[in-house]
Amino acid sequence: MSVKEALRKAIETLTLHRFEEAPLEAEVLLRHLLGIGRVELHLRLGDSLPPEQTAELDRLIRRRLSHEPIAYITGHKEFFGLEFRVNANTLIPRPETELLVEKALELAGSHTSPTIADVGTGCGAIAIALAVHLPQAEVYAVDISAAALEVAALNCERHQVTGRVHLLQGDLLQPITGLDFILANLPYVSDRQMQGLSDEVRLFEPARALSGGPDGLRQISRLLAQARDKLHPGGAILLEISTEQRTDVAALAGRHLPGANVKVLPDLSGHDRAIVIESKADKNLAIDPGEGV
Ligand SMILES: C[S@@+](CC[C@H](N)C(=O)[O-])C[C@H]1O[C@@H](n2cnc3c(N)ncnc32)[C@H](O)[C@@H]1O
Repeated sequence: MSVKEALRKAIETLTLHRFEEAPLEAEVLLRHLLGIGRVELHLRLGDSLPPEQTAELDRLIRRRLSHEPIAYITGHKEFFGLEFRVNANTLIPRPETELLVEKALELAGSHTSPTIADVGTGCGAIAIALAVHLPQAEVYAVDISAAALEVAALNCERHQVTGRVHLLQGDLLQPITGLDFILANLPYVSDRQMQGLSDEVRLFEPARALSGGPDGLRQISRLLAQARDKLHPGGAILLEISTEQRTDVAALAGRHLPGANVKVLPDLSGHDRAIVIESKADKNLAIDPGEGV
């Protein structure tokens, strides 16, 4: 069978099973199998595909038919223009999370050497994108999952930021203090929303990276309670949220960081997706006893 015939067959199979992006996905899987780029694939369409590679392509297609995400099959995902390794222990970074990085670059640009934490780093996407774009920054990347941190370590090596991204296993901000910026894309899916997730997400991505408890705010609320002792005066917290959480998260921010300036930011689809909490520049904050951590 030629490469072209294998590609056509893969497209047909995925189309038959209602994969909306069948042509693109078939091409990505074939390129992954052959270890080649787009242009080379088109130059090699007339080549013949040996039987063992045809069988391997069938295995990759079967994985996709079971709704395994393409990024887990290929082991890679692009985020903020950089390639990241991913596996079943890490969430697949989403394009909407780039908003947190863009906003942090804007805010941190005026600092000479900001200290930044990426809490719930997963494969390290946020921390590494920041370290690459802010060579003066000291970046801490925390995750509760040792397996996710192993992947983040590989990504740090790949992007040559191993010395400047400090990977720490721990519960939210527990291992760090003295921060100018805290970024976090923590699990924020509510129990009700967990039921409605697509098979692709529910069956394959780690529940610990998704589930935020009954209202989705369990970890965000704990993080904000910890942050008041960890953030420098005038520092900022940038959180990814779902649209319906914006009022509750703004209220939590007001409770734990009194006087903070709170702004909600929409993503490219127009959905409120991030919240920026800029703390007061003076230290004399009236601390609300609030909830413990
Ligand atoms: C939604 S994923 C985000 C991953 C990555 N930052 C991204 O945007 O692609 C949330 C991450 O938070 C981690 N996590 C969950 N609870 C945590 C906790 N209490 N302390 C630290 N990390 C936690 C999970 O292991 C997971 O890697």
